[in-house]
Amino acid sequence: MSLLSAATEVRLRAYAPYSRFKVGAAILSVEGNLHVGCNVENVAYPEGTCAEAGAIAAMIAGGDTRIAEIAVIADSPEPVPCCGGCRQKIAEFAGQDVRVTLYTTDGKSKVLTVAELLPGVFTLAHMDATPKVGV
Ligand code: THU
Repeated sequence: MSLLSAATEVRLRAYAPYSRFKVGAAILSVEGNLHVGCNVENVAYPEGTCAEAGAIAAMIAGGDTRIAEIAVIADSPEPVPCCGGCRQKIAEFAGQDVRVTLYTTDGKSKVLTVAELLPGVFTLAHMDATPKVGV
């Protein structure tokens, strides 16, 4: 199954009664497996989770470790960019050149790399450079 088909299918299972904005995400892992996620909202609004976060959780729970490619789909006029939090979450598990394809349900798409999605990403290297004062 293609990443687009998997994201399209899982999007229909999104739980989005508050925003009514359903999102689907599909990851091809470096290990060669497909993992999917959809947004799951909550009446306590900040507790809701994004489709990308769900797909990442499924990848890790499934025993895979790295993203080779990711696709996201939503019913929006233009391909919806991942939220800031999801950009950081994707960057945790993907190289800078990994392809992120954003789709609309009516066939538009936009391809970005992880580097384009989150320029200046905060990484472990930045923490290592932090002076360890008082430890
Ligand atoms: N949402 C995602 O799942 N992924 C995105 O990239 C953008 C936003 C969800 C969160 C919330 O359930 C709904 O879309 C409206 O923000």
